[in-house]
Amino acid sequence: MTAALVVIDKYRTGLNGVSSHSSLIKVLVLHGPNLNLLGAREPGIYGSVTLAEIDSMLVAEANQLQAEVEAMQSNHEGVLVDAIQAAKTKFQGILINAGAYTHTSVALRDAIAAVKMPTVEVHLSNIYQRESFRHHSYIASVAIGQISGFGVQSYRLGLHALIHHIRHSN
Ligand code: DQA
Repeated sequence: MTAALVVIDKYRTGLNGVSSHSSLIKVLVLHGPNLNLLGAREPGIYGSVTLAEIDSMLVAEANQLQAEVEAMQSNHEGVLVDAIQAAKTKFQGILINAGAYTHTSVALRDAIAAVKMPTVEVHLSNIYQRESFRHHSYIASVAIGQISGFGVQSYRLGLHALIHHIRHSN
């Protein structure tokens, strides 16, 4: 399990010099099974970037967007379900690469539907260019959108899209 957290200034100074509370958006980043092996795992498909490097990039990107991310990885479906259920109290959105559970897990789909939190689904590879069993996503129907095929950029683009959605729906 990896974890990354950054807290940025909660107070920004307005034009009139008065500090005002800015809305700090907190996003839970969930990585599913085998993504802990990134860097070494099938680099021809997933690239050479490690999960720790992806999490660091997301922390920096969130910082730029006046937001905060907390990332976790698990190889266990129930652990991911628990994380989604617990997210409601602490986060405003979920960025998820459910790995192989994307194509198999009604439980993850139901957890996302239950918490009713804006969720963006991301994949490093283009799942529609790969084996047919990867063409169906149980997550897609409960996500606000999906980004697939841009490598590490899928996470970055997904984070931007999620934060933009949260900001503009409040
Ligand atoms: C993946 C695609 C899935 O089909 C696969 O099982 C993964 C990674 C991706 O990021 O491209 O583990 O989610």
